[in-house]
Amino acid sequence: PPNGYLRPEGSPFTVIAHRGASAAAPENTLVAQEIARKGGADWIENDVQPSKDGIPFILHDDTVDRTTDGTGKIRNLTAAQIKALDAGSWFGPQYVGERVPTLAEQLADLRTRGGNLLLEIKGKHTKDEVATIIQVIRDEQMMGRVFVQSFEVDALKYTYELAPELPLGLLRSSLDADPVAISKELHLTAYNPDGNALLARPEVIAPLHAAGVAVMAWTMDSASLWQRLERIDTDAIITNRASELVGWNSAF
Ligand code: G3P
Ligand code: CA
Repeated sequence: PPNGYLRPEGSPFTVIAHRGASAAAPENTLVAQEIARKGGADWIENDVQPSKDGIPFILHDDTVDRTTDGTGKIRNLTAAQIKALDAGSWFGPQYVGERVPTLAEQLADLRTRGGNLLLEIKGKHTKDEVATIIQVIRDEQMMGRVFVQSFEVDALKYTYELAPELPLGLLRSSLDADPVAISKELHLTAYNPDGNALLARPEVIAPLHAAGVAVMAWTMDSASLWQRLERIDTDAIITNRASELVGWNSAF
């Protein structure tokens, strides 16, 4: 393996549960995290964004409309308003009462029950907003168990300036002409492309590995895709079907 964070010994892939166990439970909630942990995922992936009053919350979309019983942009809602929302009923009646977690709550849950976090800084953030995220990680004593990824180059630059010890992954929908060059420029531990884009240009992986950079592919949910990704030496898979990938890994 190109670095110590990825690919457990004897296992084809590090298994990363996309938004928690998002095929089985409401995404980005503590129950989705718990199911992913019980299913054996190595890492939980989640998305962080600030409330109007600057509290980092775990939510994917820029509005609460799809995944809660409320409406509006998360950046226009206070922490108290977000905490009043139901984040489970849209997924199924058994999840009524589930809340949108704060980053602090999510990290506290991982610290006490076990697990690591692949934290996506979602959308544009100011340097102060990134500093708040890092302070929460420090306060929750989770440095060493959090990996930061983002589509936003600025968010990765701010993270490196503020906490160079945090491992970084760059999310890409299409591949860079020279993935190694941008990995060096941004001090990446991992290069995290769309899995189908990676399958179309697998020759990028060997030079990344030679440069000490791991490759994490998203969001890949079928055994046929896992098999193709294994053949090209992908390190980690971000998937909605983490427990199935854990089983696939162990049968490999
Ligand atoms: O972890 C990769 C993946 O989460 C990126 O896409 O939209 O699900 O955040 P999205
Ligand atoms: Ca994400």
